[in-house]
Amino acid sequence: MAPSQLRPVSLMVSLSIFSFIALAAAVTVPLSSTFKYVNEGEFGDYIVEYGANYRVLDPFNSPFQLCFYNTTPNEFTLALRMGTVRSTSTMRWVWEANRGNPVGENATLTFGEDGNLVLADADGRIAWQTSTANKGVVHFQVQPNGNMVLQDIKGYFIWQSFDYPTDTLLVGQSLRAGGAARLVSRFSEKQNSNGPFSVKNGRLQYVTFQSEPVTEEGFSYYLSLEFSTGVNAILATPKYNSTLSFLRLGVDGNVKVYTYNDKVDIGAWEVTFTLFPGGKP
Ligand SMILES: *[C@@H]1O[C@H](CO)[C@@H](O)[C@H](O)[C@H]1NC(C)=O
Ligand SMILES: *[C@@H]1O[C@H](CO)[C@@H](O)[C@H](O)[C@H]1NC(C)=O
Repeated sequence: MAPSQLRPVSLMVSLSIFSFIALAAAVTVPLSSTFKYVNEGEFGDYIVEYGANYRVLDPFNSPFQLCFYNTTPNEFTLALRMGTVRSTSTMRWVWEANRGNPVGENATLTFGEDGNLVLADADGRIAWQTSTANKGVVHFQVQPNGNMVLQDIKGYFIWQSFDYPTDTLLVGQSLRAGGAARLVSRFSEKQNSNGPFSVKNGRLQYVTFQSEPVTEEGFSYYLSLEFSTGVNAILATPKYNSTLSFLRLGVDGNVKVYTYNDKVDIGAWEVTFTLFPGGKP
């Protein structure tokens, strides 16, 4: 009798060992989700900010697309572009990985099985990385709001581009105490390094750039800065869905909000807020 009484127990043990092995095996990026892009080939045809040349990479979620761009020869930035091909309006750079530390021709962007996202020069020099190796990352995704995320198996964000702004905040993006607490202007249209202007969030826990419908019908939208103190500073009230907006600290030190109306083909961008309407601060 004794051996048969033991059987269910040993079955349970082997089942739990099996599920442990299955779990351990799942905590790498599935091979089909890994990628390696090489910065090579023809440049794109459409008009983009800073008069840049660019090469499009696969990751996208309209109107956002990952690209390499350069404004000076052989100095490339990995960046997220906003705007659609259908619209003939300028496409804009709303996030970038490696300001001030460009990569050259044949640089690579690699998302490996270990879950690290790495931008490296052709000779292997690492210019930028998310430092997320072996942290349970299984998935890379560009979200509909332009946040690029590395997710674990439960969907939690192990890394998100929203935590690393340079001069631009998309809707839903924050400046945080203990995180990226400032925006720094670009040096010039041509040169992508830190410029002289910065905006800090002060001693606040966070300040978030937001867009919300004024009423349920959504005839018009608030564009606002939401402070951790509970204060909500309304910057503009466009009479259309303004979810596709960003706040930018410009080369000239001015702060503007650009809103993209994806129902419009020509002139889809509208400057919906300007901090110093007279020009330079
Ligand atoms: C990039 O790599 C290709 C293929 O290996 C090579 O033919 C080309 O010369 C390289 N370009 C540069 C600028 O190094
Ligand atoms: C507003 O625009 C966003 C972004 O295009 C879209 O996801 C959302 O569904 C729109 N809202 C409404 C109410 O149409």
